Amino acid sequence: MSQRGVETRYLAACAMAREAGDLMRRLYESREMGSYKLKGHQDYLTEADGEVEKLIVKRIAEAFPDDTVYGEEGGGKFSPQVWVIDPIDGTANFARGIPHFCVSIAYVQEGRIAAGTMCNPMTGELFAARIGGGATLNGKPMKVSRTPDMRSATLELGWSTRRPMEDYVAMLTRVVKTGAGIRRSGSGALGLAYVADGRTDGYAELHINSWDCLAGILMVNEAGGWTNDFLAGDGLTQGNPILGCTPALREAIVAATGVG
Ligand code: IPD
Ligand code: CA
Repeated sequence: MSQRGVETRYLAACAMAREAGDLMRRLYESREMGSYKLKGHQDYLTEADGEVEKLIVKRIAEAFPDDTVYGEEGGGKFSPQVWVIDPIDGTANFARGIPHFCVSIAYVQEGRIAAGTMCNPMTGELFAARIGGGATLNGKPMKVSRTPDMRSATLELGWSTRRPMEDYVAMLTRVVKTGAGIRRSGSGALGLAYVADGRTDGYAELHINSWDCLAGILMVNEAGGWTNDFLAGDGLTQGNPILGCTPALREAIVAATGVG
């Protein structure tokens, strides 16, 4: 595939994220209190997840009929030209009325993340990256922070029930002891975008799925940061641990989180 093919898809991903973000915002503002289900322990689902995913799948099929799509809600097919999408990352926040969530869209070509976008419609932020082309927030370049040490650092530690609670608590304990400030904001996608934009210095989670993190991984790398080899083994289809952080703090964060 030519560079032009990637560029076309990157521009389409930006437009799709904006359109999906607009729909998500409308659905958020008109939702009824308590209108959500739990797919499992702490695993939220709203009707909006399905509606937003349907819109994106339709747009991709119209513009790129030979590509395949894999979405968090509807599944799909992996192929050498696959779009991996999370219609709402931060569904628990969406469901409970906390305006911290986004749509996340990644395009993976022959095993490499070629483009990634996210839109948080509540802040009007469009995060975007394309391979070799940098990472931007609303069109302005993003750069990871220059925080010099762990005592002045802020890290986000994502959590889900997919790994034992004891392992999360052990990681949290080790990271707290470094003197870093800790967050857990409920959107792994935005967690990585925040690293790319220098708002935090690292995002780690013991297991994350590809739809949550692929766009964010590209953003961190294109903003001058470092990420572990998330796509190793069957990471694309089954997920893996994730770490995205600044190069300066990499050694300390790898040691504290055990992800690296
Ligand atoms: C979850 C969020 C959460 C992360 C989990 C994800 P969802 O996705 O990104 O922050 O810690 O690993 O499953 O359920 O909001 O789409
Ligand atoms: Ca998600």
